[in-house]
Amino acid sequence: EPAKLPPPMKSNGTKLVNDAQHPFKPLRPGDIRGPCPGMNTLASHGYIPRTGVASPSQIIEAVGEGFNMERNFATFITYLAHLSDGNQVTDLLSIGGKTSKTGPVGQYSKAPIGGFDFHNTFEGDASLSRGDSFFGDNHTFNETIFQEFIDFSNKFGAGKYNLTVAGELRFHRIQQSIATNPQMTFLSPRYTNAYSESAFPINFFVDGRHYNGQLDTTAARSFFQNMRMPDGFHRAPAPIGGEGFMQIGAAHPLKSGRNVKGVNSYKADPSQPKLGEFCKIYEDFVKNIVVTFYPKPTGDLKKALNINLGRLYDALTVVNGSKCPRLFPFGK
Ligand code: HEM
Ligand code: MG
Repeated sequence: EPAKLPPPMKSNGTKLVNDAQHPFKPLRPGDIRGPCPGMNTLASHGYIPRTGVASPSQIIEAVGEGFNMERNFATFITYLAHLSDGNQVTDLLSIGGKTSKTGPVGQYSKAPIGGFDFHNTFEGDASLSRGDSFFGDNHTFNETIFQEFIDFSNKFGAGKYNLTVAGELRFHRIQQSIATNPQMTFLSPRYTNAYSESAFPINFFVDGRHYNGQLDTTAARSFFQNMRMPDGFHRAPAPIGGEGFMQIGAAHPLKSGRNVKGVNSYKADPSQPKLGEFCKIYEDFVKNIVVTFYPKPTGDLKKALNINLGRLYDALTVVNGSKCPRLFPFGK
């Protein structure tokens, strides 16, 4: 049965988080890391197990403690990831590749249980520091791609990564993928997540003591490449989520879609949720990902799925500021 959600944090201001209880340690053989610089860093500082395999509850607690990610926002994205990439019955999720450490491999015929690396559920194309899956590696830090992050910060942010830079770089990476990756796919939930994740470096990697929306590129590299908090790093001064993502989208509006016939054949799909259209994101996710992976669950699996879908929905209601129609694909 899924572990209880963590209690709300006792304090939610800034504080030293690269502290004596959470020292950076290099990887040991077998430790798993993946496409998310935030989660990689939390694992390398022991906020989640250093193995890189964790429960959703551990992840939600860690992103709050370590980065001050707002609890409901964190719960929503954690369950998006867990319901697509994790093991519902063992309550374990890999922050990188597929592993037997989350339970027997191939436990259910349709659910890949592939970890964060699994392509086109949560992980997707046009990332800021990783390559597209089509080119063979969607999870390892990629210096060539990260150099664009540096170049754009120099060109549009006087050496810092900020919302202006994010708007330009997000669009540029999408255009690059459209022009080079014949299978470029930019559908929900990747579409909204990609804009949200472009705001994360500003919201979470800027030190809480001088929280001015400007991330210097040395600190950026420390997180993105080295999975390490800078010395003395303090988390954000107040709980925060994907704030800024609508502004990043507005810099170069682009509809959700994909390359339909090789490179440079991007076509918008009008049936897709629009940017930040959370009720539709939820509906699309439940119908097209969860039900496809779990067509007819029974027993412990069905029970866990219903608990996890309930948590996703409850968190969404807070993030969205109003209720969306709830779906019960596996009964009440
Ligand atoms: C990207 C999962 C929290 C920072 C990603 C990706 C996944 C992921 C699967 C890969 C998407 C892609 O680029 O294709 C999660 C989950 C979280 C979480 C489930 C649970 C709360 C965080 C936090 C931070 C963070 C707290 C920052 C402190 C980022 C950034 C990217 C990213 C900056 C974009 C990387 C890039 O484009 O190269 N996340 N993440 N994430 N995540 Fe996380
Ligand atoms: Mg990616």
